[in-house]
Amino acid sequence: MSRPGEAPMDKRVPTRFPVLRELADRWSPRSFLDRAPDPRQLCSIFEAARLAPSAHNTQPSRFLVARKGVGDGHARLSACLSEANQVWAPGAPVLVLASVMRERLSQVTGAMVPYPHAMHDLGLAVMSAIVQAQSMGLHCHPIAGFEPDLARAAFRVPDLFEPGLILAIGYAGPADALPEELQLKERGSRTRRVLEEVLFEGDWGLPSPLLAAPGSPP
Ligand SMILES: Cc1cc2nc3c(=O)[nH]c(=O)nc-3n(C[C@H](O)[C@H](O)[C@H](O)COP(=O)(O)O)c2cc1C
Repeated sequence: MSRPGEAPMDKRVPTRFPVLRELADRWSPRSFLDRAPDPRQLCSIFEAARLAPSAHNTQPSRFLVARKGVGDGHARLSACLSEANQVWAPGAPVLVLASVMRERLSQVTGAMVPYPHAMHDLGLAVMSAIVQAQSMGLHCHPIAGFEPDLARAAFRVPDLFEPGLILAIGYAGPADALPEELQLKERGSRTRRVLEEVLFEGDWGLPSPLLAAPGSPP
């Protein structure tokens, strides 16, 4: 974000091919305005998460929302954050504990069976939430740096569920509001591997000819 009076900082990563605006504009801020999102916007965010695909349609994700100024959930979830994340994340007006079912009920045997895609499916739901939030002018910051066992005890998460992530949600704020060492990170540019490093065709490690196809942007 910008300093007061500065033009808004562009955090976008350069792309060779067009992508959805929400994906291009998304980034994970550490500074949030002291402004609560509209409750209906929060409902849309979790509605979007509910629509995410999941293995066997298990729908394993559960979200526990903690709003600043509403009860003491925000303070109790903040207390579960790692030391490094405690510096900035409690500044977000909304923190969400995202948890996932560790096992699923087999339609075939009727017994609980391992669910190896649980965290994958939680990730799909969380990304749906992030994209929905972004479309409404909000930003999110996913956080794995917290104590799952503390969160389990603080919110009585049942054994079947695994606390996987805390999601900070709010309006991105000015970098100046952060401690000095975080201001640099907040203003820094975002980096990504080039497409050739992640998209293969034919054999592992061979960049796809798609990327050199006639008509591909340089
Ligand atoms: C599973 C997961 C865990 C993360 N945990 C933390 C964290 O504990 N603290 C933090 O500051 N950022 C955390 N992040 C944010 C990443 O550092 C961030 O997404 C990455 O640097 C890319 O930046 P961008 O989201 O702005 O594109 C996490 C992101 C993910 C997806």
